[in-house]
Amino acid sequence: MSEYHTPVLLDESVSALIADNPKGTYVDATFGGGGHSREILSRLTPEGRLIAFDRDSDALANAPDDKRLTLIHNNFRFVHNFVLEQFHEARKADATATVEDCAGRSSQADDNVEARKAGKQDHYGFGVEAGADDEFMAAAKIEGGEGFDVEAGLEAGVDGILADLGVSSHQFDTAERGFSFRYDAPLDMRMNVKARLTAAEVVNSYDEKELERVLRIYGEVDGAGRMARLICKARTAKAIETTGELDAAIAPCLPKFGEHKILAKVYQAFRIEVNQEMKSLEKFLDGAARSLKPGGRLAVITYHSLEDRMVKNFIKCGNVDGRMEKDLYGNMSTPLEALNRKPILPSEDEIASNTRARSAKLRVAVKKDCSGRSRSGSGGEKADRWGKGQEEE
Ligand SMILES: C[S@@+](CC[C@H](N)C(=O)[O-])C[C@H]1O[C@@H](n2cnc3c(N)ncnc32)[C@H](O)[C@@H]1O
Repeated sequence: MSEYHTPVLLDESVSALIADNPKGTYVDATFGGGGHSREILSRLTPEGRLIAFDRDSDALANAPDDKRLTLIHNNFRFVHNFVLEQFHEARKADATATVEDCAGRSSQADDNVEARKAGKQDHYGFGVEAGADDEFMAAAKIEGGEGFDVEAGLEAGVDGILADLGVSSHQFDTAERGFSFRYDAPLDMRMNVKARLTAAEVVNSYDEKELERVLRIYGEVDGAGRMARLICKARTAKAIETTGELDAAIAPCLPKFGEHKILAKVYQAFRIEVNQEMKSLEKFLDGAARSLKPGGRLAVITYHSLEDRMVKNFIKCGNVDGRMEKDLYGNMSTPLEALNRKPILPSEDEIASNTRARSAKLRVAVKKDCSGRSRSGSGGEKADRWGKGQEEE
């Protein structure tokens, strides 16, 4: 276990992910301290490969020296493009361990400001990303290489994709990153420190209705309207620049006892907005489903109900808001099938030794083939732990 981050549901998630193909190609979408990645690498043969992502440059220093690993400094929302690119690269040369800084500067937060100004919001009330994403996608565009059939690469797909969502302990415990109300620090909360949108920008520039939306939807904060009003009132005297100033502004909404519970929700809400986490997750799920080969596994660990609901909906319906879309014959055509009908939860022992595991939920799904079958029977002994006879939750 590194000090950077103690991995959660480590055996459960990696056992579900790798199932029966240790020679395959896997993706760890949230590298962090590299705990899950190291476990995946330890179970792969020399032919196996791992493509990992993190948008936080601090995570890059945790990369093990392993030529089977490619660590990409970017948002996992682009997983599908990078998976294609890796197939392309693999054709050109043997994989060498690489740390790639493809992002330079995160764009989606900047775009969110513009999208808000233009009044663009999707059906969740999430900000819609604009221009610079397209710019980034153009930069990351996959060109068909010499004799390389990109479509064939796409068809092949990867064997498994893991995402362990949210922030790392390192991010949370580094005072100056501003993720925690435990420290008085600048209101920052950016996972990618090159992104332009900070929590201070959100708190000081969003209008009252927008602040209410962020607090209500992303923090499920009771009395979000009153809290938004208090923030707007406090910032007329002076901009709210630190966590301490934010806490003081909303103090009248906080109970005498148990104020930490409310603060945790408020900070979660602003963190999700700053990093556009819900939009990234939606794009990631779509890209992950397209990047998996038939029989490939998707394993996602979530830490709050909003993201768990999106993952559950996506697995069940093929979209994050749970729309049941049927074809002409009344059949649902979805790319994935759930392996664990109930989410896998950490054991009491794990929660006792790592309190950050307490809200974790793991969902595992398998990619169907074009006939709509999931091949979920091919998962070997371990897969039965997730697959059998459980009611959906
Ligand atoms: C809970 S930690 C993962 C910890 C990791 N599994 C381990 O064992 O150390 C989440 C990590 O995902 C990264 N992350 C969150 N959202 C991301 C996104 N949209 N794209 C890329 N990385 C992201 C964060 O920067 C953080 O390092």
